[in-house]
Amino acid sequence: MKIIKSDLHSIAVGPKQYPQDDLPEIAFAGRSNVGKSSFINSMVNRTNLARTSGKPGKTRTINFYIINDSFRFVDLPGYGYAVASKSEIEKWGEIIDRYLTQRENLREVVLVVDIRHEPTSQDLQMYQWIKSFGYTGIVIATKVDKISKGNWQKNVKIIKDKLGIKDTNLIIPYSSEKKINKEKVWQVFEEIIS
Ligand code: GTP
Ligand code: MG
Repeated sequence: MKIIKSDLHSIAVGPKQYPQDDLPEIAFAGRSNVGKSSFINSMVNRTNLARTSGKPGKTRTINFYIINDSFRFVDLPGYGYAVASKSEIEKWGEIIDRYLTQRENLREVVLVVDIRHEPTSQDLQMYQWIKSFGYTGIVIATKVDKISKGNWQKNVKIIKDKLGIKDTNLIIPYSSEKKINKEKVWQVFEEIIS
């Protein structure tokens, strides 16, 4: 995919603030700090389009990024951020739920996990939801630059077993830092938005 243009389109908490057009959207869900915003930046060759942080809980709104004026990446707030208060957690849950259940533009929900860690029960819940709504069930296992190549397969297997995935090809090891598997992910995305 040749990226000619990428911009922040809008920031939303509720449907009234969602973009009002019918461009297709791919949304990224996952635990806080796994690297969703970094993933978006690396895919569009930007360093600071989506704001990232070493501390979890950076993205707290739904951020819509428009690419080549033709489709959007949607950065969702991360879940499982332990330091957040109960009311904050409930509020984010609602923000995410409303988008996922009501958004007609949505073509695919991609689960982003950290390849170093076994998915949590919240990841499993999210993944089962994604599958039950008929999405493909693509998993981006990011930060792969942080483990040796000899461990990729072992960690992919842990993710596969925990999430109950049959087709290993659905799990794509990725590195935003080293741009590992970027073209492969674009190939998958191109099919979704075409
Ligand atoms: P929330 O907005 O809190 O949900 O987090 P997020 O999932 O958007 O994570 P973010 O992209 O902000 O990244 C969290 C931290 O992980 C940052 O310090 C990133 O630099 C780092 N990081 C993300 N992806 C990678 C990667 O592929 N490799 C390495 N080495 N670090 C990464
Ligand atoms: Mg983020």
